[in-house]
Amino acid sequence: MKNKILQELMDQQGQYISGEALAEKCKVSRTAIWKHINNLRKLGYIIETANKKGYRLLENNSLLLPAEIQKHLTTKEIGKNIIHFNSIDSTNSYAKGIADKTPSGTLIISEEQLSGRGRLGREWESPKGDGIWMTLILKPKFPPSEGGKLTQIAAASVWQGINKVLGLKSLIKWPNDIVINGKKVCGILTEMSAELNQLHYLIVGIGINVNNEAFHNTIADKATSLFLEKGEKINRRALLCEILNAFELLYDSFVKEGTLKESLNICRNNSAILGKEVIIQQGANQAKAKAVDITEEGLLEVLTEEGKKTEILTGEVSI
Ligand code: BTN
Repeated sequence: MKNKILQELMDQQGQYISGEALAEKCKVSRTAIWKHINNLRKLGYIIETANKKGYRLLENNSLLLPAEIQKHLTTKEIGKNIIHFNSIDSTNSYAKGIADKTPSGTLIISEEQLSGRGRLGREWESPKGDGIWMTLILKPKFPPSEGGKLTQIAAASVWQGINKVLGLKSLIKWPNDIVINGKKVCGILTEMSAELNQLHYLIVGIGINVNNEAFHNTIADKATSLFLEKGEKINRRALLCEILNAFELLYDSFVKEGTLKESLNICRNNSAILGKEVIIQQGANQAKAKAVDITEEGLLEVLTEEGKKTEILTGEVSI
């Protein structure tokens, strides 16, 4: 019913429709209309009421509202259930709290995060309405050791989304960054809950700087946004839908075929580091090496200064 009322309001294209007319069209009482209108407002829709005129929906293209996103999804699992917030501490933290009782493919999205989390305990700047701050809850039936591969799938789908919607060539900096002109535009934080042999759930947090005009001076030299790179404001909704659609295709082929092939092709062909001399930071240890390949397992293969080939599971890589 909520969606039917929403559709009627949209059909008015910004003009008022009376409560009586809405009730008649939707075949419910005026009290029911009033209740549903309040629920739509809680979801973020801006609906004005005026005496004797009724209700009108204000143009609201800027929010990442579930019904608007779902209209453009071609997915079967990803984003079938979307929880949207105007403000939250962290979508990853919220996802952890509800993951046990939520279907796989659930998407948590917030217009801002008050305590957005990055890797290695860092903060993630998430100002209101500027970016895509989201988390996917996934429950694939594979062993916990496979969990890290989801980062490669997420990176490949963000790369595809940026490429298709904006025509911008970004690069993937293994394991979890997307960069443009050497500056970070997206970070991925994959977390999981598992026992020794059993995965309970995976939490894939993706933060994309979309329309940010500036960054805090502590990260200004390292961070950029799609707006700053493209020189025009970006439709967050179109980008988000493209990423989710791409994610499901890549994720599906991984779950069904058990290989990361398609995601790896994207990560290898658009890598910011392969073939380059890099510095690898792992805890307190730092080492120089040449980045050679990303393995079928999603690990980084490097050639050490001593000429030894070795595989790296995780770490901070800089050029
Ligand atoms: C990193 O590069 O360090 C990872 C950044 C991940 C940020 C995203 S924003 C949405 C989700 N919620 C969080 O608190 N963090 C991730």
